[in-house]
Amino acid sequence: ILKSSLSTSTARSAIKNVTIIGGGLMGSGIAQVAAQTGHNVTLVELNADILKKAEASIGNNLGRVAKKMFKDNPSEGEKFVAEAKKRVKGCTDTKEAVQDADLVIEAIVEKMEIKHKLFKTLDEQAPQKTIFASNTSSLSIGEIASVTGRKDRFGGLHFFNPVPVMKLLEVVRIPETSDETFNAMMAWGKAVGKTCVTCKDTPGFIVNRLLVPYIAEAIRMVERGDATPRDIDIAMKLGAGYPMGPIELADYVGHDTSNSIMQGWFKKYPENPLFKPNDSVEKLVKEGKLGVKTGEGFYNYK
Ligand code: CAA
Ligand code: NAD
Repeated sequence: ILKSSLSTSTARSAIKNVTIIGGGLMGSGIAQVAAQTGHNVTLVELNADILKKAEASIGNNLGRVAKKMFKDNPSEGEKFVAEAKKRVKGCTDTKEAVQDADLVIEAIVEKMEIKHKLFKTLDEQAPQKTIFASNTSSLSIGEIASVTGRKDRFGGLHFFNPVPVMKLLEVVRIPETSDETFNAMMAWGKAVGKTCVTCKDTPGFIVNRLLVPYIAEAIRMVERGDATPRDIDIAMKLGAGYPMGPIELADYVGHDTSNSIMQGWFKKYPENPLFKPNDSVEKLVKEGKLGVKTGEGFYNYK
């Protein structure tokens, strides 16, 4: 007991400086929760314009969190937002960004070649001690880590959208991940206020392995004409207690994201019928109807 509590407390204090690569939807959410729990955050983007957008979105979402946390004390809320914002430093140079990093979390586009290119560079630039993690939704952590010389200091840290609200963090270890790295990732997840679960490096980990085929089957019901999107959504909210129905959730996640997940899995595991992409989703993607973010998907948000 002493040994495990000691390693947990060491691990918690070990991760102070966190570098997030990619300040899109997920990266800016991860940067926000890390900053609001007292970590020094460096956020890396491709250029200053995108960084500015990411910082604006973090400020905005910190405001929403503060409004809830400091309902009766708005001036404390303002202080909370200002302090958290001060802890986030924007950067466009990975070499500079990783110099003092205890942990680097990658949240860039879901493409293996692009992630490989990034991690190869980061492996040369980061100190020996730095732990690397990917927030990938669907790619293999082992395959991402294969281009680095630090598989023992590599794992998956999979957050959920919207990051400031969703309480779960999936901590994924590969066979090479050391106990020290794994414990440090679990302790850090707790330190940013998430409940951690762990699983092996399998397609979709826990949540997406169940959620993505469930959404696909709901869309197949629409394709077959079994029920309307609205009735499917009402059914799953009122009959199964989900906060969003599967069709609403598909629009919320984005059809480009879920389609590329399904395409990737289907290519790798063509014999698994659960991974068969939906024709209607491919059509929506071609038409640019990606869901909430473009104003139209199965539903119209304009
Ligand atoms: N930052 C900060 N706060 C936020 C926020 C954000 N980005 N988004 C929402 N909130 C807050 C709101 O301010 C609101 O706070 P109050 O309750 O104090 O008003 C609260 O969250 C609830 O939001 P809303 O009232 O706007 O709407 P809601 O009650 O319908 O909840 C929801 C929205 C939290 C998104 C909820 O519908 C939900 O849990 N949906 C399911 C989401 C889900 O399944 N996500 C996982 C997707 S899969 C994934 O992420 C993995 C992957 O790899 C693809
Ligand atoms: P996004 O498109 O919103 O953001 C990606 C960001 O990365 C962009 O702002 C882009 O400019 C930046 N970027 C790309 N290449 C870069 C590089 N080399 N260096 C620095 N920045 C770079 O995507 P997202 O939805 O935030 O997804 C990011 C990752 O998180 C993906 O691996 C995705 O699978 C995973 N994920 C997504 C969700 C989701 O619901 N969208 C949930 C969990 C995990």
